Parts: sequence; C-alpha cells; structure tokens
Amino acid sequence: MQTTRILYIEDSPNSRLLIRRILERDGFEVHEAEDGVSGIEKAKAVRPDLILVDMHIPELDGFATATRLKGFPQFRETPIVAITGKAAEGVRERALSAGCDGFLTKPVFSKEFSRRIAGFLGGERETLEPWAGSGYLKEYSRHLVDQLADSRQQLHEHGQQMENMCNGIIWSLTNALDQKDPYTAGHSARVTQLALAIGRRMGLGSEDLMTVARGAQLHDVGKVVIDLGFINKPGKLSDKEWGLMKKHPSIGASILAPLCFLHREIQIVAHHHERWEGRGYPDGLAGEELDLLTCIVSAADSFDAMTSGRCYRPETMDLATVAHEFERCRGTQFHPDVADIVVNLITKNEVPCLAKAMAKPSLTVVA
Ligand SMILES: [Fe+2]
Repeated sequence: MQTTRILYIEDSPNSRLLIRRILERDGFEVHEAEDGVSGIEKAKAVRPDLILVDMHIPELDGFATATRLKGFPQFRETPIVAITGKAAEGVRERALSAGCDGFLTKPVFSKEFSRRIAGFLGGERETLEPWAGSGYLKEYSRHLVDQLADSRQQLHEHGQQMENMCNGIIWSLTNALDQKDPYTAGHSARVTQLALAIGRRMGLGSEDLMTVARGAQLHDVGKVVIDLGFINKPGKLSDKEWGLMKKHPSIGASILAPLCFLHREIQIVAHHHERWEGRGYPDGLAGEELDLLTCIVSAADSFDAMTSGRCYRPETMDLATVAHEFERCRGTQFHPDVADIVVNLITKNEVPCLAKAMAKPSLTVVA
C-alpha cells in the first residue's frame, strides 16, 4: 500500500521537527521545504497528497505560495492547509482567499492535529463565509499587486547592477588595450562616440545603441594578446605582420566568448573588418550577411583610422577627403546607408568627439 505523502513548508526547524514527529507517528511520509520557492519545486517533485504551509516563510510568503500552487492543474484538488502561530484578525480569511483549503493554528495538539489532517485528506474543506469573501479577496488582490510591484523594482535594481558590472568589465578590457598601445589610446572611445552618432541618426532604439556602444568599445580587444611591437615601427607592415594583425577580430571574439550575454557585441568584434562587397576579413561576409550594427562600428573605425593616422600610415586626412572616401567606397567597403550618414554628419559638421581625449567613455546611451 502506498503511503500518504505530506509536504510541510516551514522555515522554523523546530516546528518542522515537531510536525514531522506527529505525522510520522501517524504513518505519513513527510517531506519538507523551508521557503515558498523551494516548497513549490518540492511539491512538483514529490506530488504530495496534502500540503501544509506556514504563512510567514521567506522568498514567497505562505499566501502567495498557496495561490501559485493552486494555479498548477496537478495541485488544484490537493488540499493545502495553512498553519500559523500568528493568527491575527483576518489571517484565516486571507489564507482561504489565497487558495488554502483549511486553516490551523499553533501550538499544535497532536490528537486534534491528526484528526484535522485526516479530515482534510478525507475531503473536508473550509470555506469563506459569504459576508467575508469579497472584501478579503479584494484585499488579497491588492497585496499581490504590491508584491508584484516590489518584485519588479528588485528586478530593475538587479538589472542595473548587472549593467554596471558589464560596463566595468568592458572599461577594464579597453583600458588594458589603451595601456598596452598608447599610440592608439582613445581610439575605442572615439569610435564609440561616432558609432553612436551614426546609430542615432539611423533611428536605432536604446537597446541597439547600447549594443553598438559596447561593440565599439570592445572592437579591438583582440589586440591585447597580440605582440604589437611592430606597429610602432616606421614604414609599412610586412605580410607576416599584417597576417598577425588580421587575427585580432577572431582573437577578440574568443576572449569575449565566455560572456555569452554579449553575443551581439561579440559579432561586432568578430566582423568589424569585413567589407560590404565581401573582400574583408576574417570570413569575407558580404551585404546582408553583415549585421547593420557591425557595419556602423566598422565605418566609425575606418573614419577614426583615416583621421588619426598610425606609425605605419602616418598621413591623416582632412574631413573633406574623408567624406570623399566614404562616397567613393559606398557599397564597396561600406554599407551604402551607413556611408551616406557619415557623409551627412561631416557635411553638417556634426561629427562628435574629434578631440583625441582619453576620457573614460560613457556607455549610457540616449536614443
Ligand atoms: Fe580592428
């Protein structure tokens, strides 16, 4: 014969021990959980014949736990019995409004307790008196809405903390790159500002703009692990040196790979040297194979390379020449729409952040 299973959700170890002794003496199989969330998981795992729940438990209180459990089809007929030591006025009615089928108070007297448990297992149910029903239901609904609002606020705060942490990681990585190669220090910050200006002009939403900002900030992170000694030598790079340079997008993507929540930014890092007509590296992606956000960062990167110069390419271009270059390479190197926006920004003298400042970039974006 199968034993009758009872789940007791209660945070006090003493109360759990006492009730367990009484129930086991009566031949029941007892399972325990110490808070509402783990209680619901335990209920799904053991499929109890009756659930006893304390009203004052952590994570999810007893009222919300009963409501949640009754929402699952498998527990709709399972008796859920509230048990509490603080039986203030209205607690019983709130417990029944929340979905409990019975209400017991502590201290527990074993004979009476066993008789009530047997009664609930046999089909006994407590119901709300008609005069009490709607008032307590309304109050309980208000209580649930308040809890929901609190939970949303907590989620929002956690999200904010995560975002700050993420921005801190990005800043540390780009700072490491700037420290390693002072010649290009500030490059990532300038690319970020221009990429954001292009993105805003293209009407991107705030989430896409944040992705553009992070991708731009990180786009050259692969250079952190490449020996860049050759970059600062005068003259052209050899084929071998270019071969090494060309590895930085893939290396950057593999550095960031464990941060899977940055998957869109990783695509930008991996493909910021691809070209619209498909002659870029590392994968030779072309046209619509390229994500718009990647094309934006790629254009901003090229703009900064044209206006900043390098040891191996010391000459810099004035803005009129840069605009001409973007018109010339529209649809070959650059996404046509992105190239048009860059030319437009130059023409209207709206290119941001041309000063080669080393200021810490803000990753807070406004659409
Ligand atoms: Fe790069």
